[in-house]
Amino acid sequence: MEENLKELIAKAIHEIDLSLNLKELEKLRVKYLGKKGLITDLKKNIAKLPKEEKPQAGKLINQASVKIEEALEDKTKAIREKLLEEKIEEEKIDVTAHFDRKTSGHLALINQTLEDLEAIFQNMGFDVVEGPEIDTVKNVFDDLNSPADHPARSTSDTFYITHNVLLRPHTSSMQIRVMNEGKLPIKMVSAGRVFRNDEVDATHSPMFHQLECLVVDENVSMANLKATLETFIKEMFGDDIKLRYRPHHFPFTEPSLEVDATCPICKGKGCPACGNTGWSMELLGGGMVHPNVLEACGIDSEKYTGFAFGLGVDRIAMVKYGLDDIRLLYDNDKRFLEQF
Ligand code: DAH
Repeated sequence: MEENLKELIAKAIHEIDLSLNLKELEKLRVKYLGKKGLITDLKKNIAKLPKEEKPQAGKLINQASVKIEEALEDKTKAIREKLLEEKIEEEKIDVTAHFDRKTSGHLALINQTLEDLEAIFQNMGFDVVEGPEIDTVKNVFDDLNSPADHPARSTSDTFYITHNVLLRPHTSSMQIRVMNEGKLPIKMVSAGRVFRNDEVDATHSPMFHQLECLVVDENVSMANLKATLETFIKEMFGDDIKLRYRPHHFPFTEPSLEVDATCPICKGKGCPACGNTGWSMELLGGGMVHPNVLEACGIDSEKYTGFAFGLGVDRIAMVKYGLDDIRLLYDNDKRFLEQF
């Protein structure tokens, strides 16, 4: 009997070892330990044995039962652990995979353009000056030689805060502020927001940006203005860009001019972006500072001359980056912003 039991245990343990899943293990449990299982049968048969053999047989069968039970338990544990490991492996999240590192933003295109412009003028020896967006009628119009009936003065064009205080409609007021500081010579640029009562469309916004340039010294001439503009425009757009000067009128310059650049897309040949003209939209207005403006700021216009210009920063950005709508600069559409 002892031999038979040993064989039975060995067979059971071998089968348990070979089983691959919990279902197979359960079958083996039933086969050996279930109600009609092999061990259970042996237990039942003890009753039929001679009295003196019963205790020993009972002991051996119980030991066999315990051994098989332990083997089943060990294997169940092993299979469960394996299943858990497989599950963990399957569901593992790689926190470093597909991680979008571009979570921080960057300067808006218009601010990038402002920085580029300021850097170019700084390299040419200009001071960069900051000024207020709210200014006086004296700085914005009166001292800039604007006649009392100039259309820009009307409330339909300009946002007034009080009778004498307004949101600046151009950065030219910075000319007055800097000249009033009384230091000569002057070689400055000043960029920032300006405000006009304009309807929004593809080329107009009630808030946009200008860069004002002013040079005042002895013997400043139109040639200096031209050289400054040509140097600046080549820095900004490259060597093959040309400028076109058109006569114009501004109250604060005499003579006055407006300037266009060759279309940076077709380089002047004509394309849909420039309406086949070969020229970009007007980029700036400028000229030689009117003697009345110098005198209003206490500068001797017999001794000193100057040139000035005001640049449309949004237009520079539009030309440089090929934008067909100024609203792109202000709509905060991530699909647009992320391109730069
Ligand atoms: N202030 C003018 C405008 O907003 C532009 C301008 C013209 C600025 C001539 C100047 C200048 O400095 O000399 O349209």
